[in-house]
Amino acid sequence: MILNVFFTPLEIPAVYGKDDKDKVLISNGRRRIKISSFLAGVTLCVFIGLTLSAYANNSAMKIKLKPPHFKEETLKSLLERRLSVRDFQDRAIPFNELSSILWATCGKKYDSVTGATRTAPSAGAAYPLELYLAVGKDAVDGLRPGLYRYIIEEHALEPVLEEDIRTELSRACLGQDFIRQAPISLVIVADFKRTTQRYGERGENYVYMEAGHASQNTYLAVTALGLSTVEVGAFLNDRVSKALSLDEKYIPLIVMPIGYAK
Ligand SMILES: Cc1cc2nc3c(=O)[nH]c(=O)nc-3n(C[C@H](O)[C@H](O)[C@H](O)COP(=O)(O)O)c2cc1C
Repeated sequence: MILNVFFTPLEIPAVYGKDDKDKVLISNGRRRIKISSFLAGVTLCVFIGLTLSAYANNSAMKIKLKPPHFKEETLKSLLERRLSVRDFQDRAIPFNELSSILWATCGKKYDSVTGATRTAPSAGAAYPLELYLAVGKDAVDGLRPGLYRYIIEEHALEPVLEEDIRTELSRACLGQDFIRQAPISLVIVADFKRTTQRYGERGENYVYMEAGHASQNTYLAVTALGLSTVEVGAFLNDRVSKALSLDEKYIPLIVMPIGYAK
């Protein structure tokens, strides 16, 4: 049916030549029009099909997170309770808590002075940090094991890999076994160019500082939610990048295993 439509010749005014030679030329021209209209139709169909399927896949793949929520607690109490933990229970983390932790680490917020900004300061508002999340089996209510990217702008998760990468991540972190044991790990990565293109070499320092801010936010958020973490900086960049299938523009800076302390 579709093929018939595209095989139908275009309705162009018939112009005939004066002699047979002209007729042959014109008839060849019409055939060319038929073939080109068919090809144009097929191309258009393929284009529309691909666009629609890409759109459907994209919107279906994103996992919307819950709005962040924390019980009231004084900053003094949180700072006093914050500590590094390296022994975790085999207990799932509620989806709500995960949402709050991701947002606190480097999520988007609004304030009355600058409008849209982030939970951690950023030199020149260049925002070089991105966040990846390694999830184990039965680690987060309602989330499959795998690797996800936190889409900061949308407060959503995008699946990256459908496999539990915690063992590989733990090996990449010089065999620190609690990374394999923790139900989830955040990996803070950076695209240094976003900052260095404005600040040159000095910008590199800024990116490291910002990763520290994000990490402290994670510490405070998990403490407030009754969970625990530890900042891990001892790892082989290449191995972490490989475990995360990271684009080469990103450098991994900090790994934060998270769970309930034993
Ligand atoms: C930049 C940085 C890198 C760290 N790397 C590791 C690490 O690879 N493994 C680890 O077990 N702890 C690591 N830590 C955690 C420290 O060991 C921990 O903060 C320190 O022992 C103080 O304990 P506290 O955080 O409970 O106050 C790191 C901390 C920082 C700031």
